[in-house]
Amino acid sequence: MSDTKILVIGANGQLGSVLVKELQRKYGLENIIASDIRSNESFNGLFEKLDATNFDAMQELIVKHSITQIYHLAAILSAKGEQDPLWTWDLNMKMMLNVFEVARLTKIEKVFFPSSIAVYGDAIDRNNTSQNSFLNPATVYGMSKAAGENWAQYYFDKYGLDVRSLRYPGVIGHQSMPGGGTTDYAVDIYHAAVKGKNYECFLDHDTELPMIFMEDAIRATIELMEAPKENIKTRTSYNIAGMNFTPAEISSSIQEYYPNFNVNYKPDYRQKIADKWPKSINDDEAKDDWNWKPTYDLKSMTKVMIEKLKLKFQASSAEI
Ligand code: SER
Repeated sequence: MSDTKILVIGANGQLGSVLVKELQRKYGLENIIASDIRSNESFNGLFEKLDATNFDAMQELIVKHSITQIYHLAAILSAKGEQDPLWTWDLNMKMMLNVFEVARLTKIEKVFFPSSIAVYGDAIDRNNTSQNSFLNPATVYGMSKAAGENWAQYYFDKYGLDVRSLRYPGVIGHQSMPGGGTTDYAVDIYHAAVKGKNYECFLDHDTELPMIFMEDAIRATIELMEAPKENIKTRTSYNIAGMNFTPAEISSSIQEYYPNFNVNYKPDYRQKIADKWPKSINDDEAKDDWNWKPTYDLKSMTKVMIEKLKLKFQASSAEI
């Protein structure tokens, strides 16, 4: 029997809700403690309501459940963060520092801290952006992630805390909805198509961004966390790539299934955010250090997204 007890913070979110199920499958329902600031009545498993800005509450929960690993997924994302910059900074930094400091004090074995392509800004080559490119983020979300990466390195160097991190591209899944991000369009567009609607896109047709299918994102996260400690040579955060595409390319791939599907482009304030991000990222370090390999491209992702969303919408209309 494993002694692993995992706390997931932000378990109701886009990634958290899917990650929790995979961790439960792998480690057993009783070994995963899901937590979020919002309660979750329909949750299957152990759930604790937690405000991650509350240091004492976090510490109590960790002691109560003899937690050995933390996945900290709660954050305000890029687009929403720009609506209230100081609040976003306070919240993202407070939660992240609470996690690192509580983890140090309670001798947590491993911590997962997600970073993002939002750490990059003007100074990069936007094609195949390398792991060690200069970071000058243009959003508060990106600034908080870049600072978090440095804190991760600091806690590792100074205290030996085993923090591991990925720079996620836009994550696309059928299981859950994103909220407040610049890459959210790439999930919303499938929902519109499967519901038989057209889509109004807040990014322009030729805005290329790095993206990853949910299955690959979850697998990357768990593979990174399960890799032998000595393989983890990057202690800030690893670039991981899945695929890159523009809104025009994703809509063409959807039109293979829905030929009449139409997208109207109406760029808004999120266009400026996307314009500073990489078009594609280089993940050689992840491949070399812990054998990262994505499996989905745009075509195979579109097939699964459409199949799964159709089933989901059929089931929910059958319930009504
Ligand atoms: N998906 C995130 C966002 O758009 C990027 O990490 O904010």
